[in-house]
Amino acid sequence: MMRERQQLLMLLFVLSVGGSRIASADTNPQDAAALKSLMKKWTNLPASWGKSNDPCGAKWDGIVCNSNSRVTSLNLFGINMKGTLSDDIGSLTELRVLDLSSNIELGGPLPAAIGKLVKLEYLVLISCSFSGPVPSELGNLSQLIFLALNSNKFTGSIPPSLGKLSRVTWLDLADNQLTGPLPNSRDNGTGLDQLIKAEHFHLNQNTLQGSIPESLFNSSMALKHILFDRNNFSGPIPASVGVLPKLEILRLNNNSFTGQVPALNNLTKLHVLMLSNNKLSGMIPNLTGMTSLENVDISNNNFVSSEVPSWLSDLINIITLTMQSVGLSGQLPQKLFSFPKLQNVVLSDNQLNGTLDMGNNISKELDLVDIQNNKISSVTVYNSIKFQSLKLEGNPLCNNSLLSDTTPCTGKQTEAPPPPLFVDVQCANPFIETIVFRAPSFANVLEYLHQLESNLSRQLSSCTPNRLALVPYSNEDAYLNVDIKACPVNQKKFNYSQILNCFNLTLQSYKPPEKFGPYYVMAHPYPFHDKVSRALLIGIVTGSVLLVVGLTLVGFYAMRQKKRAQRLVSINNPFASWGSMGEDIGEAPKLKSARFFTLEELKLYTNDFREINAIGAGGYGRVYRGKLPDGQLIAIKRSKEGSMQGGLEFKTEIELLSRVHHKNLVGLVGFCFEKGERMLVYEFIPNGTLSEALYGMKGIQLDWSRRLKIALDSAKGLAYLHDHANPPIIHRDVKSTNILLDEKMTAKVADFGLSLLVSDSEEGQLCTNVKGTLGYLDPEYYMTQQLTAKSDVYSFGVVLLELIMAKPPIHENKYIVREVKMVLDMEDGMYCGLKDVMDPVLQKMGGFLGFPRFLKLALQCVQDTAADRPSMNTIVREIEVIMQDNGFTSASMSTSSSFSIESKTMKVAPKYPYSNASTSSTTFDMDSRAFEYSGMFPSSNGSLKNRGT
Ligand SMILES: *[C@@H]1O[C@H](CO)[C@@H](O)[C@H](O)[C@H]1NC(C)=O
Ligand SMILES: *[C@@H]1O[C@H](CO)[C@@H](O)[C@H](O)[C@H]1NC(C)=O
Repeated sequence: MMRERQQLLMLLFVLSVGGSRIASADTNPQDAAALKSLMKKWTNLPASWGKSNDPCGAKWDGIVCNSNSRVTSLNLFGINMKGTLSDDIGSLTELRVLDLSSNIELGGPLPAAIGKLVKLEYLVLISCSFSGPVPSELGNLSQLIFLALNSNKFTGSIPPSLGKLSRVTWLDLADNQLTGPLPNSRDNGTGLDQLIKAEHFHLNQNTLQGSIPESLFNSSMALKHILFDRNNFSGPIPASVGVLPKLEILRLNNNSFTGQVPALNNLTKLHVLMLSNNKLSGMIPNLTGMTSLENVDISNNNFVSSEVPSWLSDLINIITLTMQSVGLSGQLPQKLFSFPKLQNVVLSDNQLNGTLDMGNNISKELDLVDIQNNKISSVTVYNSIKFQSLKLEGNPLCNNSLLSDTTPCTGKQTEAPPPPLFVDVQCANPFIETIVFRAPSFANVLEYLHQLESNLSRQLSSCTPNRLALVPYSNEDAYLNVDIKACPVNQKKFNYSQILNCFNLTLQSYKPPEKFGPYYVMAHPYPFHDKVSRALLIGIVTGSVLLVVGLTLVGFYAMRQKKRAQRLVSINNPFASWGSMGEDIGEAPKLKSARFFTLEELKLYTNDFREINAIGAGGYGRVYRGKLPDGQLIAIKRSKEGSMQGGLEFKTEIELLSRVHHKNLVGLVGFCFEKGERMLVYEFIPNGTLSEALYGMKGIQLDWSRRLKIALDSAKGLAYLHDHANPPIIHRDVKSTNILLDEKMTAKVADFGLSLLVSDSEEGQLCTNVKGTLGYLDPEYYMTQQLTAKSDVYSFGVVLLELIMAKPPIHENKYIVREVKMVLDMEDGMYCGLKDVMDPVLQKMGGFLGFPRFLKLALQCVQDTAADRPSMNTIVREIEVIMQDNGFTSASMSTSSSFSIESKTMKVAPKYPYSNASTSSTTFDMDSRAFEYSGMFPSSNGSLKNRGT
């Protein structure tokens, strides 16, 4: 096809150069007469037509002549021409290109005289209203390369004479009313099997019938695209289709094919395989080894019930997998969901059973998992699963489950529609054309639309620099339509030659990104002339565009689960492990605000700890989502048997944690402590982790001020733990996955204090086995095993660098701390070099005032020596100053941190002196210090008592 395209461009070039060279010559009289006769049957022609008797010399729009003043090209694409095509067309015997596409009121029969155009290479009559039979005289056009008669009203059967078109690479008769069987040389003397150069058989959307003979295909054919869908073919699929070495797209869906699907395994280049809605029987096709497949649909046939086939784990390039009602049972392989391009999986109306476990490595593109009407009894839900994309109605797990009133079980979307994704262009006389893609590999065009847009803009840039809008939608025939709306630049309207030369894509001169598959274009009526009705026409055109845009947005929203939709569930293991062994301790812990839950209650709130409610897992056990009777969502951390600490220890921890209350810490709601179970009940934080937000997993883009606010929030949480919790708590595992974002994007620190509280060992330091997360670990702590609050400061510094760079601390074998330090060394302390390593999102958004000071703070936090690092309090103060100095004030920012400390009257059994002087508080207001320190500690601890007063 590529080669033909080049030839065509060459041809057009030669033709137009030839045309201009003989500008003054008189047109060949035979051609001039033929055109004048043709004109008599046409209205709405360009004004240049008929002004003179010399179409070549006077340059009638759409006509190209050669140096002998013979007409070689007639291109009247999309000019609203009306009428019929008379026999006179047969007199233009030098014609090589005839394109009358997109003139919806041009129709009538195609005259037999067209067979006289023996030099014709391109015959293109797309989207007109031609009717009657396809003339068998077309078989005389021995030079024909490109034959496109699609989207007309042709009737009758395909003439066997088309088999004589030995040069044809493109045969498109789709979307007509053709009937009868496909002609083949064995039965009809000549037939389609002789078209060995043809790459495209596009015969979809007719009422063709009969069985397809084995002889229609053979291995010497060049076929890439077979579109036979939406006909009435019957009988078996010929085994010979499996030997076509270049086949990329095979659409046989919506016919009446019967029998077993033949072996297709040799079709290693096949991207699209659609066999749905036939009467195929036997085993489901064996697609082993067909690793190029991107879009597979074998739904709604009469296949024998079977277990989930093993080749599902081989489809490494799969984007869209549809196997509705094919009798599948068993469980889906996790590997399927990990293929990186996967968008849609539709396996509804099967017998899939057991647990749906998609694994924890789910494709980021995954948009829809439709498993309605199966026998799934439970679902393992990981953080990475978007709840909105699951469809589970009609499975046993939807009965009584906590999920029963959520989107996966009800199908009802709760969130508001997403903002428009398409930028419309406004102008008085836009030209609009629809590109119809008949076999795209994907279901969600939004992932690929920008590729199409940039690609098309380039193609059309000579006509419409930067004034283009694309609007995708699917119509009822299930192909993908994309409306291109183009605005004239520096002119009121496009003229004929712009439309004919720029927007006419009928000859496939434009090559869209591969995944879009074969296409054709249809122009919408354009108000070229007729000044009186022009205003009306403009009104109609712009009105219909706006309607299309509106409908499209609504349609897209309703049709699909939005990528950027908020996830219902996204809490990332905010809790550390606790406990081992231990029987129930008779007496309940004394709690300030956390409450005691019975096992029965928690069973009720989580629907008996069903898998579907599990939202995280780790060494300690699992985290479940639940809902209190008052509607509050909770996250319940349930320890595995055998990982439990003693009852007393657990009780002590609960008592302590129940007093840790701060708006930047994930709050404890309660606990359960019964029958060997130890559970902690936390508030549920809906917006996931900072890590997910930074790495774009949530569709959130954090601007600079938001990042400052998150840094400030989490610093406040940590400062509270270090200086105001009683006893002080060292977090030990500060990282971006332990910082959660609530519905107002307020950051809350999670996973603190569960396994280690600062106790009264020497000098506030603890000897302990090193614990933490690689990349965030304080090197000094690692070397010395001496844990101090400054180890948290180091980890927090790494988080601050992450906020700047949006890269994990260890990435591509680079360590973020060293990377930043190296850049700064090279740059001699200048910050310019950092641009290369900085988060591009941040750079794009701009406005990062106070950046140098923030960076300096981050680098202070990751100093090698603990003593050189600031305290969390100092950090809070510094970030506040950075924000204030640069005008980033927000309502939720307060100048003096106010904590809700309610431990004033608590009695705490153990002693928790915390005498690390370097973290002493200087920034909190007197009241909170008074709360914190008065009467809480044993009087023997003089240093602490004195510190605050
Ligand atoms: C399809 O073909 C079958 C015979 O193969 C015929 O009975 C049926 O009426 C046809 N359907 C249509 C819509 O033409
Ligand atoms: C599918 O085909 C492959 C190789 O072509 C073969 O190894 C495998 O056994 C087949 N599977 C089934 C279920 O027939």
